[in-house]
Amino acid sequence: MCGIVGYTGKRKAIEIIVPGLHKLEYRGYDSAGAALVGTNGIDLHRAAGKIENLEKSFLTSPPDRNATTGIGHTRWATHGAPCVRNAHPHLSQNGHIAVVHNGIIENHVQLRARLESRGYVFKSDTDTEVIAHLIQEFWNGSLMDSVSEAVSMLSGTYGIAAVSSDEPDTVVTARKGSPIVLGDCKDECIAASDVSAIISHTNRVIFLDDGDIARLTPGSIEIRNPEKTMVTRPSTVVDWDPGKIEKGGYEHFMLKEIFEQPESLENAIRGRLIPEDGTAKLSGLQLGPSEIVRITNIVLTACGTSYYAGLAGAYAFEQISGIPAHIEQAAEFRYRNPIVAPDTMLAAISQSGETADTLAAVREAKRKGALVMSICNTVGSTIAREAGRGIYLHAGPEISVASTKAFTCQVAVLAMMSVLFGRSRRLSNADGTFLINAIASLPELARRTLEQNDAVKSIAERFAEASDFFYIGRGYMFPAAMEGALKLKEVSYIHAEGYHAAELKHGPIALLDKNVPVVACVPSIPGCGKTMANIQECKARGAPIIAIATHGDERIRSFTENVIEVPECPDFISAIPVAIAEQLLAYHIANIRGEPIDQPRNLAKSVTVE
Ligand code: M6R
Repeated sequence: MCGIVGYTGKRKAIEIIVPGLHKLEYRGYDSAGAALVGTNGIDLHRAAGKIENLEKSFLTSPPDRNATTGIGHTRWATHGAPCVRNAHPHLSQNGHIAVVHNGIIENHVQLRARLESRGYVFKSDTDTEVIAHLIQEFWNGSLMDSVSEAVSMLSGTYGIAAVSSDEPDTVVTARKGSPIVLGDCKDECIAASDVSAIISHTNRVIFLDDGDIARLTPGSIEIRNPEKTMVTRPSTVVDWDPGKIEKGGYEHFMLKEIFEQPESLENAIRGRLIPEDGTAKLSGLQLGPSEIVRITNIVLTACGTSYYAGLAGAYAFEQISGIPAHIEQAAEFRYRNPIVAPDTMLAAISQSGETADTLAAVREAKRKGALVMSICNTVGSTIAREAGRGIYLHAGPEISVASTKAFTCQVAVLAMMSVLFGRSRRLSNADGTFLINAIASLPELARRTLEQNDAVKSIAERFAEASDFFYIGRGYMFPAAMEGALKLKEVSYIHAEGYHAAELKHGPIALLDKNVPVVACVPSIPGCGKTMANIQECKARGAPIIAIATHGDERIRSFTENVIEVPECPDFISAIPVAIAEQLLAYHIANIRGEPIDQPRNLAKSVTVE
């Protein structure tokens, strides 16, 4: 969602802030702005739409290039339309303070009324503007103290960066529920809402904890916890290659990330497989066999694509480990007062590690006494830190809003967990070895699936004009069908529904005709014969069939010539090659339709609001 960059140092602040904002574009936004601590006070620049519009505005209203301190923001509208007036930064009434904010201030209406009664005049419809005025209201000559007093008035979530013309060379940041990360550089300091905006300057970063406030001056960082005590937060080295957040010759990040999957899967499994013992080594779990064997129930929780990975994972836990497992939509888990039985493990799955509902589910599960672990991609993210134990995907930065490589790595990690948990129960060494060897083949399975790219592109050309799609599957192919439909609608804006193949005839089949293609996920795994029968039902209604089937399966050719072949593999990992085929299909259809693939309208990479 929104993005924050703050800088103080010796370099021209605008030249750090604007490229930093570009690095955060993938999060989704609809306006952008920057405020510099200039020689004549705060120098404010804002524009609706893309960052390019902000840059164009510099031609008529040049930024103060001598300024060495400033903040910038990309806004994804929540309170008030995406226009210049509502774009961040927002200024205090006296114009001395500028603030950028991610998150939602839930009591902004009350605060606004109180500030208005004290003579403050609001210029925007945002919830953020109250923060700028509150800092002015509490001003005591110290930006850090004044921000501290201001945030004590706020309910809701925030990641904030503020500057003041009365305290040049200082950026103050604060967080509660919305991440802030600081770049630990030598003679300068950078703050941002995620590592992507920092990594080209330093790979040594400090993650603020909830309730922390930090004061950055060139080369020094002072952090106070909610009790106002000075604290030291650990510095973490992020092993992201800055080149990975560039497109590297691909037309879109989504395509690049699809093609990175052999490598990302390799990284996700590296050092974690022990074929001779038929098991996996997942040190981040911090659980030995005697602790694993005591887990009698697994609840997975997540949103969106991560939810579908979790659904496949739940099947694997039951099938391979013999442990009852189910997935809960994270927003439901947080509010429906779920029963957490003794010896329940909650696994929170989140690429970003910042999804508000998943984070709330983690907190609720901890309150209820569950053993909580996370499966995240973003190192140091809030979910990863709050869960305390977990497994990183090591998929590398995922920039495209549509999740691709994170999904396949999530399924791979869940597959490894299932084998590990199974080995402390009913899974034999020999069976474990078979499964571990199958997991080891994932990079190669991904590589072979990607060889279908041209075939998928031709199929995409045939169906790019359709306005409705169905995706069907059963067993492990049910989550795959759901994920395929989600991917298509996200990037192509085509209406697509994922359905259990058997459920189709209980209603949705009424919608099928020659204009509604059905993507059948039907690799040769148990249950595929039944799905073949369902394909026949669709065909009988005139629906064109696109089949994702195992290489060499000739049966499918009697139903359709639109076949995307995936390599043969056991069912518990079959969602991985099938998802890669679906990602290619969604990508090519969206590309043919000319959609803005990496940043689809209305979507944000990380959903940090409920
Ligand atoms: O970062 P998370 O995995 O927690 O994100 C969850 C969803 O918001 C995310 O998967 C979303 O559905 C993606 N846009 C899917 O491509």
